[in-house]
Amino acid sequence: MNQPLLSVKNLTIDYIGEERDFRAVDDVSFDVAPGEVFGLAGESGCGKSTIAFAISRLHKPPALIRKGSQILLAGRDVLDLDPKALAAFRWREVAMVFQSAMNSLNPVLRIEDQFYDVLRTHKGMTKAEARERTAEMLRLVDIAPDRMRNYPHQFSGGMRQRIVIAICMALDPKLVVMDEPTTALDVVVQREILQRINELRKQFGFSVLFITHDLGLMVQFCDRIGIMLQGKLVEQNGAEAIYKSPQHDYTKKLWASFPSLHGGVLL
Ligand SMILES: Nc1ncnc2c1ncn2[C@@H]1O[C@H](COP(=O)(O)OP(=O)(O)OP(=O)(O)O)[C@@H](O)[C@H]1O
Ligand SMILES: [Mg+2]
Repeated sequence: MNQPLLSVKNLTIDYIGEERDFRAVDDVSFDVAPGEVFGLAGESGCGKSTIAFAISRLHKPPALIRKGSQILLAGRDVLDLDPKALAAFRWREVAMVFQSAMNSLNPVLRIEDQFYDVLRTHKGMTKAEARERTAEMLRLVDIAPDRMRNYPHQFSGGMRQRIVIAICMALDPKLVVMDEPTTALDVVVQREILQRINELRKQFGFSVLFITHDLGLMVQFCDRIGIMLQGKLVEQNGAEAIYKSPQHDYTKKLWASFPSLHGGVLL
């Protein structure tokens, strides 16, 4: 791989407990190349979201990142950023879309004002400039620009999710972390949104860290996939390779639990 965009090295994260600590992420290392989609799969509770939050520097106590862990984004040590650098980093370098992202829109603000907040703070845009950028971004996610005057409740769930993605894209981030970004949506809308993200990725060249329980979606959408088991990354490989010739027993079990994958439907 050429110079990776994201390089996670020996990441170890504990949740500090009153009686004892719980190791949620155990010595995990992986790289994500520029423009690549890297997926994290594994059973519930294996540590995927904990990693996603740490990379976005959104982890909070009791989560504690242990010494020796490293998260490098474009060569910068994410774990070393001071509060000022962190504020810029969060939107401009990394954007995060959660499962409940569509509920993260402010219900009492028009869409255009939510874009303006972000664009003024991070790019110093005037209202007119922000409006132009907002129209451009809404078009990218197939929402008519004149709807920027609307409030969140005037959109469907899928549209709201697309608006959140458009806000994330407005600052042209290098990495988009998506933790179950479409789980709350129906299958057709899910695939439409992921297709849109893929087109945007090809156009803008950002990388994606993608987390979903839907293994079919994961195999289709990702270039490479890492398999996690109880805090450890037990296997990583190209999506097709990891699906067609899994090495680790747990990966085999994981695929076996999704019969449709073995029907040759996907690849
Ligand atoms: N705030 C917390 N305090 C203590 N333990 C936590 C906390 N958040 C998560 N954990 C534990 O850390 C482990 C990893 O959780 P995490 O949310 O990263 O899993 P996940 O792989 O994202 O699961 P899911 O697929 O269900 O979203 C779990 O065992 C969980 O119980
Ligand atoms: Mg999770």
